[in-house]
Amino acid sequence: MRSSEAPKPSEAPKTARAIWGGPLEGGLAPAMEALNRSLDVDWRLWPHDVRGSRAWVGGLKGAGVLSAAEARRLCEGLDQVANQLQALPGPEDLPDEDVHSVIERLLTEAVGPVGGKLHTGRSRNDQVATAFRLWGKEAIRDLRGLHVRMIESLRDRARDAAGLAMPGYTHLQRAQPVPAAHWLLARAWPLVRDLEALAAVERECDVMPLGSGAVAGCPFPVDREALAADLGFAAISENSIDAVSDRDWAARLLFAAAMTGVHLSQLAEDIVLFSTAEFGFARLGGGFTTGSSLMPQKRNPDAAELVRGRTGRLVGNLNALLLVLKGLPTGYNRDLQEDKEALFDSVDTLALSLRVMAGAVESLSFSAGTIESALDAELLATDLADHLVRKGVPFRESHHAVAALVQAAQAKDKRLDELGPADLCQAHPAFGDGAPPVLDAAASVESRAVRGGTAQTAMAAQLDSLDAALASLAPS
Ligand code: ARG
Repeated sequence: MRSSEAPKPSEAPKTARAIWGGPLEGGLAPAMEALNRSLDVDWRLWPHDVRGSRAWVGGLKGAGVLSAAEARRLCEGLDQVANQLQALPGPEDLPDEDVHSVIERLLTEAVGPVGGKLHTGRSRNDQVATAFRLWGKEAIRDLRGLHVRMIESLRDRARDAAGLAMPGYTHLQRAQPVPAAHWLLARAWPLVRDLEALAAVERECDVMPLGSGAVAGCPFPVDREALAADLGFAAISENSIDAVSDRDWAARLLFAAAMTGVHLSQLAEDIVLFSTAEFGFARLGGGFTTGSSLMPQKRNPDAAELVRGRTGRLVGNLNALLLVLKGLPTGYNRDLQEDKEALFDSVDTLALSLRVMAGAVESLSFSAGTIESALDAELLATDLADHLVRKGVPFRESHHAVAALVQAAQAKDKRLDELGPADLCQAHPAFGDGAPPVLDAAASVESRAVRGGTAQTAMAAQLDSLDAALASLAPS
């Protein structure tokens, strides 16, 4: 059949002949057909599968299996199939089992029997493993870009917030003053680790299984190194059995997505808490909040809540794939078809969550007055104990003395900084009877000048390190 006479996919018979030779005994049961079909899920692999097939044509030509004319015809046919698929809104009307079957059927319709030569020495087992990795590498790159933007939004807000101190919390109790920028950056560093994990998964994914056949490799002398170079893979798989069944990179990507989801969820939880009337520290921009259908006054932090909620799916998808993998015997098993839905969903979910959270963080406004009024003097109790330490008092002793002072202040209904020299001296003689030490949040923040601490010099060094990490991890 001439290529111009190829039927449009919509004109194809409703039940396509199965790629593996058609009905064994009277065709698949309808329920089995539904279970067997993966086209609605693996549809997004088609550009990668076409790309893999074009490379395979080159490999077969190099191995002497295809003549130059046949190879040219197949490549033209694959271009034509790509155009056909590009024009379709989706796979809904296609009768085929999976993305590989539809491409092979359309190719054969386009170029005639020579289309049947494409599958020489190849199996859907190495084919799907290859297309999935080609897709995976692109997906990871896109995620890395979104990650970088998310981290940059936290960093930029940290820069904006320079000079603003807030309570640092432990057990969700006010603990010690910290720069608000330190809190924001504390939510950025976990994402840097996630970005490192993504870069590692990208390297792991960058290994080409093509040429492994169904399980035992390819009997024709295909140059796999050249194929890998053609497809942009950094390396080729070393064992054909492992190559067709290895989904470790997918599991690791699911873990990286789940871990990132957990980190975004924790940030979301902070935002939800800090935007309550009880805290009153922050407010999300209008693009990231919704109102109530009933209560006119409501401004709900839905962006943060939805991202927090979606994290469940990210963790669930990781579980789903690990459970698919755990019982598999050697070689390719059909269970592996279940890898894609989990990974596609996690990548989509994470991409959306990262975009929403980056925008939400950019939209965040802080109420400096409310934040500063939460910095009560008790947050400086440790500084008071450290003051005694500087006078030679063992810390455990100074801790007891200041604990007694805190209780004394509470008993007198006074703030810690309202106690006089007599109260201090009574708690510990090392306070002396001169003027009490100044209790000041800014001084407390500035006193922690170690790397990783809160002083301005340490904060500047932290920002520099973050910039360096971003520069080294951003996709080029
Ligand atoms: N749709 C299948 C998958 O995703 C393709 C491989 C089918 N292989 C087979 N031997 N039936 O795994």
